Amino acid sequence: MDSILVTGNGPLHGRIPIAGAKNACLTLMPATLLSEEPLTLTNAPRLSDIKTMTALLQSLGAEVSALQDGQVLAMSSHDLTSHTAEYEIVRKMRASNLVLGPLLARFGQAVVSLPGGCAIGARPMDLHVEGLEALGAEIELKDGYLHAKAPNGLKGAVHEMRFASVGATENIVMAATLAKGATVLKNAAREPEIVDLVECLRKMGAQIQGEGSSTIEIQGVDRLHGATHQVVTDRIELGTYMLAPAICGGEVELLGGRMGLVGSFVEKLTAAGVDVEETEAGLKVSRRNGRVRSVDVVTEPFPGFPTDLQAQMMALMCTADGVSVLEERIFENRFMHAPELMRMGAQIEVHGGTATVTGVERLKGAPVMATDLRASVSLILAGLAAEGETVVSRVYHLDRGYEHVVRKLEGVGAKIERIKG
Ligand code: EPZ
Repeated sequence: MDSILVTGNGPLHGRIPIAGAKNACLTLMPATLLSEEPLTLTNAPRLSDIKTMTALLQSLGAEVSALQDGQVLAMSSHDLTSHTAEYEIVRKMRASNLVLGPLLARFGQAVVSLPGGCAIGARPMDLHVEGLEALGAEIELKDGYLHAKAPNGLKGAVHEMRFASVGATENIVMAATLAKGATVLKNAAREPEIVDLVECLRKMGAQIQGEGSSTIEIQGVDRLHGATHQVVTDRIELGTYMLAPAICGGEVELLGGRMGLVGSFVEKLTAAGVDVEETEAGLKVSRRNGRVRSVDVVTEPFPGFPTDLQAQMMALMCTADGVSVLEERIFENRFMHAPELMRMGAQIEVHGGTATVTGVERLKGAPVMATDLRASVSLILAGLAAEGETVVSRVYHLDRGYEHVVRKLEGVGAKIERIKG
């Protein structure tokens, strides 16, 4: 297994291009199942999760061609040979469950493995099932698989979700595009990836309004046609790299970044003493002198502070002047980066869903282990600012969500290299 060697090397300067959003692409790809005509995605990120989703769609009989070095995905699901998402693939990537809604809507049947456990939490699918059953689907759990059918098609309904689940919103909205009649989805998730999905579905002929708000209304249509859609910028990659000049000092411009994607995150960075400026090309982030100030963080559904940036923000708070309290309200086990940061000299106390961080002047490089996607990049950020060398192992986690990390950080002056293992 590869590892990444990072050596603290002072302030960073330059520009980092931000790729298309992994979490938008992972819901846009299954949307191809809703139409027999081709769907083409541009600005697709080159990540292992995208390869996994590609393999899943191909296992169903869909055609997926990765063109232009993977930045364009040309897809067609004219003739499917299977409606089953196998455990082998789903257990590797939970987002595989996003084929459930589209398969049900277009073919009236789907068999999707429950994802099973994940490092950051149990991540059940009850909210997905409740929403699809509200549209008339019959779903039963057998041998670890959800067996779903809608022999007479799906029927629009008014449904309020108990929690604003991102994935459940995506599955229900995609299914409702082909249901008979109108659907009103209440307490819907408001993430930019949902907005991007709806914009793509609308290009395919879907009739939807309210995306980005808590209530999304969908008027079912008989069929959807093909489209070409550009994947929205990845707000989590954007926020991650904004923390590099914050933790190291210097000034870095994140190309493609927009304030609207990272609103509440920018509020916290500004409160910590980091300057963020929106430019023609993106977001310019700088920290002149002196340590950042500690700030408290509570993770919430969008537009609140994103849970996917909690681990990275903790790395910054480990070097802040003062004490910060980070509360993780979305997942039940998302502090696995804390013990690894403590190996670098961080002072962190974890009690249940709350981590209290007392900032130290400087972290010390050490061998550490990535435990999940966002934890892995949190350790790299810590290593960029630490004294000496940090070796982050198990970087296959990193490859799921960040393309060309070494190249992007080297480009702004970081001392970082990938070691083949
Ligand atoms: C999406 O996961 C993202 N993944 C996650 O990003 C992100 O952390 C999460 O949304 C929250 O923003 C993709 O978009 C592919 P949820 P999702 O359904 O849809 C519970 C990353 O690092 N829940 O909003 O699975 C669940 O257990 C990944 O890129 C139920 O209880 O998130 C969790 O505690 C990690 N029942 C909470 O809701 C359900 O049926 C939020 O889950 C569904 C979810």
